[in-house]
Amino acid sequence: MTLRIAPSILSADFARLGQEVRAIEAAGADLVHFDVMDNHYVPNLTIGPLVCEAIRPHVKIGIDVHLMVEPVDALIPLFAKAGANIITFHPEASRHVDRTLQLIRDHGCKAGLVFNPATPLGLMDHVMDKLDVVLLMSVNPGFGGQAFIPSTLPKLTEARRRIDAHVAHGGQPIWLEVDGGVKVDNIAQIVAAGADTLVAGSAVFGAPDNDGGYRTVMKTLRQNASNS
Ligand code: DX5
Ligand code: ZN
Repeated sequence: MTLRIAPSILSADFARLGQEVRAIEAAGADLVHFDVMDNHYVPNLTIGPLVCEAIRPHVKIGIDVHLMVEPVDALIPLFAKAGANIITFHPEASRHVDRTLQLIRDHGCKAGLVFNPATPLGLMDHVMDKLDVVLLMSVNPGFGGQAFIPSTLPKLTEARRRIDAHVAHGGQPIWLEVDGGVKVDNIAQIVAAGADTLVAGSAVFGAPDNDGGYRTVMKTLRQNASNS
């Protein structure tokens, strides 16, 4: 199984964002996870398409835009134009989930749904053919540095079962991403439960950075993940 590690720049130094994304790419990151918060869908406010456009020339790896905004649709063309490769959103924040997924794909990006800890997986049932990514939140969205919610583990296993059944019936591949509280000491369990794409914010940018480039923590995350 291919494992992808996606450091969340929510915990990066925003005053040096270009350097920060170059450093994680050099340390082996597979994606830049880009958290968009609007002080409406979630009680925090972060970054938008202009910042996405500003970091785009600094890295070759994909930019994984996680929209924690309501409404969703108007931002999709802006992020696609700003260089996003993946756009995920919360189904509660869109009136027409199927239409929003299609809109993301029509703009040339991979599309994904994000499930909050209390959001049932059944919401993916009738849109499986439009999903490139299923993202399970393992914290309530809005802040970095929160503790991993353990009930995400059986939920991941159930999401993995649904995705594998979809693929076994001739469906397209769907990545299973997890976001929140992923650390060097729980990543193996999370991968064993079925995740293939791991977001890590404070675990990466808050790690002791003796090598000045996050190489040690990225290597440890990957080693522990592949030892699951
Ligand atoms: C939370 C964000 C996460 C967050 C993860 O709403 O979606 O991406 O940055 O941060 P950690 O890894 O510190 O829990
Ligand atoms: Zn996120």
